[in-house]
Amino acid sequence: MAFPTHRLRRLRRTPELRALVQETTLTKQSLIYPMFVCPGERVKKEIRSMPGNFRWSVDFLVEECKAVSELGIPGVILFGIPESKDAVGSGAYDPQGIVQRAARALKKAVPNLLVICDVCLDEYTDHGHCGLIKNGEVDNDSTLELLARTALTQAEAGADVVAPSDMMDGRVARIRAALDDRGFQHVPILAYSAKYASAFYGPFREAADSAPKFGDRKSYQMDPANQREALREIASDIEEGADIIMIKPALPYLDIMALARQEFDAPLAAYQVSGEFSLIAAASEKGWIDRERIMMESLTSIKRAGADFILTYFAKEAARLLR
Ligand code: PBG
Repeated sequence: MAFPTHRLRRLRRTPELRALVQETTLTKQSLIYPMFVCPGERVKKEIRSMPGNFRWSVDFLVEECKAVSELGIPGVILFGIPESKDAVGSGAYDPQGIVQRAARALKKAVPNLLVICDVCLDEYTDHGHCGLIKNGEVDNDSTLELLARTALTQAEAGADVVAPSDMMDGRVARIRAALDDRGFQHVPILAYSAKYASAFYGPFREAADSAPKFGDRKSYQMDPANQREALREIASDIEEGADIIMIKPALPYLDIMALARQEFDAPLAAYQVSGEFSLIAAASEKGWIDRERIMMESLTSIKRAGADFILTYFAKEAARLLR
């Protein structure tokens, strides 16, 4: 039956009616705040291309995380900027590495804040790639051992969740085995399952000083043109033991999000990445768009497409509005 019997505008007439039939609700419990931690003391250094985001030394990170937790944000994901980098990314799996130290301090000072640790080598290698280089290529199998050591040292430091973002084949199984073997059966793996070789990571690479020194990441991260391949990546991560799957970036990949939601029952996360943040921040600084409305609209859209929770540099700002 159609017009005039049906009038879809009837339920849009007042805010109360609209609220009653709203299908997607954004809550601050579904926001995770990405943070960068660096050596030193009393360091809070703004990231040029990500205004309002900083590299924090551990002491200041702890203070900031108290505020993050008080806003009702359930957790943070940590990225490390090490003292020095080398060919094998030893800073990633050093038990006294920057992320391991930060995790220890955070679990002590803000125990209820979930600490998620990104598992990858790129911030720690002098060549900037996510794995070991052999014959000029990023070698898959020899990298797995180092990723497993990274996740293990993070779990030992108190990480609540480990999140491999490297896109090596077989890393989830290898990390699961390493954690289980050492008594960390209870630590979940949040797998960056469908991670695309995206230009939207640009500002992050400035923040983490992790741009590859030669070549690009196309031999391990996914081709933005591919959709079906994402389903294969997700299926294999789940089979290997991933507890949560993630799509990254978010907004340009909502078709992947919707499809993943349809095809899989695992909890689904989305990463609204640095470039997505910076586009909105820059356009709003110019006065061209309404920052708050675009922020809330994009976060709501990511949830509507199927994400259970969202890693976003807007977490604090959105949580304040969601009070
Ligand atoms: C790799 C990693 C990257 C991001 C998260 N984990 C960078 C990359 O793959 O180049 C990007 C996140 C963002 O852009 O916000 N450790």
